[in-house]
Amino acid sequence: MAILITGIGELTTNDPELGRRREAALVLDGERIAWVGSASAPPAADERVDVGGRAVLPGWVDSHTHLVFAGDRTAEFEARMSGNPYTAGGIAVTVEATRAATDTELAANLSRLVAEAVRQGTTCLETKTGYGLTVSDEVRSARIAAEAVDEVTFLGAHVVPPGVDGERYVDLVSGEMLAAVADSVRWVDVFCEQGAFDEARSERVLRAALGAGLGVRVHGNQLGPGPGVQLAVRLGAASVDHCTHLTDQDLEALSGSDTVATLLPACDLSTRHPLAPARRLLDAGAVIALASNANPGSSYTTSMAFCVTTAVLQMGLSVEEAVWAATAGGARALRREDVGVIRVGARADVHVLDAPGITHLAYRPGVPLTWAVWRRGVKMT
Ligand code: NIG
Repeated sequence: MAILITGIGELTTNDPELGRRREAALVLDGERIAWVGSASAPPAADERVDVGGRAVLPGWVDSHTHLVFAGDRTAEFEARMSGNPYTAGGIAVTVEATRAATDTELAANLSRLVAEAVRQGTTCLETKTGYGLTVSDEVRSARIAAEAVDEVTFLGAHVVPPGVDGERYVDLVSGEMLAAVADSVRWVDVFCEQGAFDEARSERVLRAALGAGLGVRVHGNQLGPGPGVQLAVRLGAASVDHCTHLTDQDLEALSGSDTVATLLPACDLSTRHPLAPARRLLDAGAVIALASNANPGSSYTTSMAFCVTTAVLQMGLSVEEAVWAATAGGARALRREDVGVIRVGARADVHVLDAPGITHLAYRPGVPLTWAVWRRGVKMT
């Protein structure tokens, strides 16, 4: 069924030829965008939706979340707000709760959070395993994730579980565990950080993933400077995520590479770290994405609009740059061309704001501006 969306006040396409335009219309046909053009000459359609002069943009592409979990870490958050540092030690708390949960409980929590994200304009989601950390718990996490999100990442190398030898755990993750999840995931990620996996261990896991034909991504430079960014670039990772603490060499490495720097401002704020150097990355020529990092420990939000607002108000990006990073940038981080863009043939993922233009995302911070969402051509809200 073809749906004509008309009355668009401002259309952000992220397509270099279509650009950002006024007085536009578009047609969704099934799961795809079938037509984009001037509101004065729209084609016939089965249904017509007039958005009354509102802004239309691609749905958010949230390329970094950890949504397969159980439990709650409010106490850890409260302790942090009264001065305790974030150490990633709380991951073990979520691992324990996740292992104790049933499949039904994990799936219900995941679909609650996916629905929450979609209501706020997110139409493409990546999520990671990483709170199971045994072969069977990682396999079921990957399987449950694959039923609810667009992209699944295996993060067996999140932390070494308590009481397990580090070298043996890396053997397990890059051997038996990887083989067991490989059919359910597209990506493999490693938390390359002091207290998690050092460069050598991270590289072992990532090379095993590449050998198995999977794509790789890295959590790097979150809690301090470290080897994550350089490792990600050296191995051709699609993305290195966090990038909070970067050296000039890291900036230089990213600027000449295909590895996207995925920035997670809600996490930087929630862990009381500085905000990632978004402006310096862009000025150096790096490609950046913005993502929520939704998880129960370091960043318990699914709001991509919050990330965009923060990027503009506190990280020196223009609204256009921030919106691009949260849509097309996320698509680049996932190496996808069908999302994060409005053009003929792209997925019919459309976000309508209750505002005349995208500037309102920063001009009206904290106001829920999502007015309508189509995901794969289906009206979600
Ligand atoms: O991306 N850094 C590692 N993993 C998550 C945090 C997970 C947690 O604290 O539960 C992150 O911030």
